[in-house]
Amino acid sequence: MSDEVSEITPEAVDAAVDAALEAIAAATDTAALKAARAAHSAEGSPLARLNARMREVPPERKAEFGKLIGQARARVNQAFVAREAELEAAETAARLEAERVDVTALASRARVGARHPLTLLQEEIGDIFIGMGWEVAEGPELEHEWYNFDALNLDPDHPARQMQDTFYVDPPERHLVMRTQTSPVQMRSMLTRELPIYIVSPGRVFRTDEYDATHLPVFTQVEGLVVDKGITMAHLKGTLDHLARQLFGAEAKTRLRTNYFPFTEPSAEFDLWHPTFKGGARWIEWGGCGMVNPNVLRAAGIDPEVYSGFAFGIGVERALMFRSDVQDMRDMAEGDIRFSEQFGMVV
Ligand code: DAH
Repeated sequence: MSDEVSEITPEAVDAAVDAALEAIAAATDTAALKAARAAHSAEGSPLARLNARMREVPPERKAEFGKLIGQARARVNQAFVAREAELEAAETAARLEAERVDVTALASRARVGARHPLTLLQEEIGDIFIGMGWEVAEGPELEHEWYNFDALNLDPDHPARQMQDTFYVDPPERHLVMRTQTSPVQMRSMLTRELPIYIVSPGRVFRTDEYDATHLPVFTQVEGLVVDKGITMAHLKGTLDHLARQLFGAEAKTRLRTNYFPFTEPSAEFDLWHPTFKGGARWIEWGGCGMVNPNVLRAAGIDPEVYSGFAFGIGVERALMFRSDVQDMRDMAEGDIRFSEQFGMVV
C-alpha cells in the first residue's frame, strides 16, 4: 500500500473495504484477526487515511462522502465482529475439548490392594517345605477322573465319586471333573518326576458342598508327597510336627488317629495341638495322611519293594481359621478388601 492515498472515490473506498474483508476472512485465529484489524481499520490504515481526507472535502459534499466512508467502516467492523465471534467459538471449543474431563472415567487414584491371606498362608507353607529341600508341584484344577479317583485307588463305587460330591464337567464321555482334592498331583508327580520325590502342591479344590461358615464349595489344600527308599511313618510324623511348629509355635505338635483313605495304607487323620488357640490350647482336626498305598506306587510304575512313601493333605482355610481366629470361612471367599487388610499389606 502506498503512502499516497487517492482521493475519496467510491472505487478507492471499495478497494479498501475489499482488502479489509479479504484479510478478515483469511484470519484463522484471533491473533491474526487482531493484526488484520490493525492493518485495515486502525489509524494509518487506508480507510483511516481516506477518512482523514474528509477535511479537504468541500462542505457541500461532506454528507455524501461521510456516508460513503461511514458505511465502509461499518461493513468492515461488522465483518470483523462476525469473524471474531466465529474464531472465539472455535477456540473455546478446541480448549474445552483439550481440557475435557470425562466424568464417567474410573478414578485414577489407584488403591493399593492387599494380598489375600489364603495366598499368603499357602506360600508360607510352601516356603517351609522349600526350606527342607522339597519342590512345589502344580496340577490342573480341571482334572481327568482317572487322576482324581482311579489312580488313587478309589474304585468306581466309592461314595466320593457320587454326583452329590463331585462337579462333573460335560461332556460325560471325556471324564473330566473339577478336582475334589490335590491328591491327583501325587500321580502326576510320580509319572513325570525322577525319584526320589519330595513335593508339596498347594491349590484349589472343588466340591458340591454347602456354602456356610465352615464349608466352601471351592477351597484350598496343600498336598505333600514323598517317595524314597526307606521312608517310614516316623518321617511322616516328624514332617507334620515340623510344619506345626513352624506355623503355630514351638509348643505345637500333631497326633495321628487311624482312618481310611484308599490311596494310603496305613492311613490316619491328624490333629494339631494349637498352643495359642483363642479359647485355650487344644487339639484341632487338620488333615489326612498315610503311607502311600503300594497299589498307587505300582500304578505309577514304582516298585513298592524298593520304594516307599508318605502323603498328606491339609486344609488351608481351616489352618487360617484357627491360626488367625477367623470365625466364618465365607469371609475368605467374599473378596472384601477390609478382610484382607487385617492381615497386613503384604506385596
Ligand atoms: N485328599 C484327602 C481329602 O481331600 C486328604 C488326604 C488324605 C490327602 C490322606 C493325602 C492323604 O495325601 O495321604 O480328604
